[in-house]
Amino acid sequence: MNESIKCFVETHFDKPGKVLDLGAGNFSDVHSLQQMGWIGEGVDISMGVNLEHPFFSKHGPFDLVIANYVIHKLKNKKQLVKTAYDNLKTNGWFFVQTFDMSDKTGKWKSKPSMRLSAENIRELLEQVRFINISEKVFDFYDYDEGHKHWHRILEVVAQKQP
Ligand SMILES: C[S@@+](CC[C@H](N)C(=O)[O-])C[C@H]1O[C@@H](n2cnc3c(N)ncnc32)[C@H](O)[C@@H]1O
Repeated sequence: MNESIKCFVETHFDKPGKVLDLGAGNFSDVHSLQQMGWIGEGVDISMGVNLEHPFFSKHGPFDLVIANYVIHKLKNKKQLVKTAYDNLKTNGWFFVQTFDMSDKTGKWKSKPSMRLSAENIRELLEQVRFINISEKVFDFYDYDEGHKHWHRILEVVAQKQP
């Protein structure tokens, strides 16, 4: 499981709740959270949910919305942030990871629209009226076959205001 999510839920939630994963990929984070007692839903373009457009789950509202390694791929980044907000409960948390603009490994280096800084994401979150925004940048070694390199990761969390 993504260790940062595990750490985040352990420190921010007293008990398991409901989670929505935007750009869920192979649903590994949804499955890991389900094993921890969470009720989880994931959506992805592979199942026909295009996050360039609004998405509203009928299973919400959620205590936690996560969106890892998807925001840099979208043209309409603000829509993803708005979708997270609209699917959250009041006081619910949004958790985002992406590659920091100082990351040395990704193909996105040459694509300006894919390069994101903490300030870029903070601006989007503030526009959508998230509060308690905090950012963290850290190095992470990707052990996957064909990868085996370091990444500089940007993690941002924010809360839906009452
Ligand atoms: C690098 S994977 C990350 C998967 C997962 N969040 C994780 O952290 O392991 C990016 C995912 O974003 C999805 N994706 C890309 N563009 C999308 C879009 N416009 N709408 C919805 N999902 C999209 C891809 O299909 C892929 O599953």
